[in-house]
Amino acid sequence: MKIEVPLDKANRLINSGQVILVTSAYEKKANIITLAWNMPISHKPPLMAISLAKKRFSYDLIKKSGEFAVNIPTAELFDEMYYCGRNSGRDVDKFKETDLTAQKANKLKYTPLIKECAGHLECRLYFEKEAGDHVLILGEIIHASAEKDLFDVKWKVEKARLIYHLGDNVFTTSDKEIIA
Ligand SMILES: Cc1cc2nc3c(=O)[nH]c(=O)nc-3n(C[C@H](O)[C@H](O)[C@H](O)COP(=O)(O)O)c2cc1C
Repeated sequence: MKIEVPLDKANRLINSGQVILVTSAYEKKANIITLAWNMPISHKPPLMAISLAKKRFSYDLIKKSGEFAVNIPTAELFDEMYYCGRNSGRDVDKFKETDLTAQKANKLKYTPLIKECAGHLECRLYFEKEAGDHVLILGEIIHASAEKDLFDVKWKVEKARLIYHLGDNVFTTSDKEIIA
């Protein structure tokens, strides 16, 4: 038996989205936003997508700087991740409030990485298109790095407990590998 899923919850069938922390910055302002809506898009060039509501402060900063960074939190950073998804950089300095450490990126001009995160994609703004109440933003990945103990060509999921958002206030984490 199948139940009908209301359309405003339909995205949850495909999005048990891996939670990322996107950093953005321009001049003296640096910010962190929690995002569950993200995906890879292209190998050549390497592109990834995020879906950002236009009213987010992060959107203003990305538009001004033309760049952003994706930082991958593990379950140890759950509280910091949650804070960054519930407060706007318009009102608070999220680096200061969470004690997360801003670390200079390899290729980006303005945007710092989050030192405590397990992996990073440095992205140049490649394309944007308004889509409903969000903006689809593609980033060209110009540098990528990951913690050696947690990533070896792919995530070692049992060690790097990545965070996934199921909807509302419910999350899960990666557990055992399934090897086909
Ligand atoms: C688990 C989680 C996932 C989220 N995913 C998204 C997302 O994919 N896109 C989006 O625009 N906002 C998303 N948000 C909401 C933003 O993180 C939130 O509005 C944040 O306070 C905006 O920060 P800013 O104004 O400093 O940019 C998410 C929040 C949480 C807690």
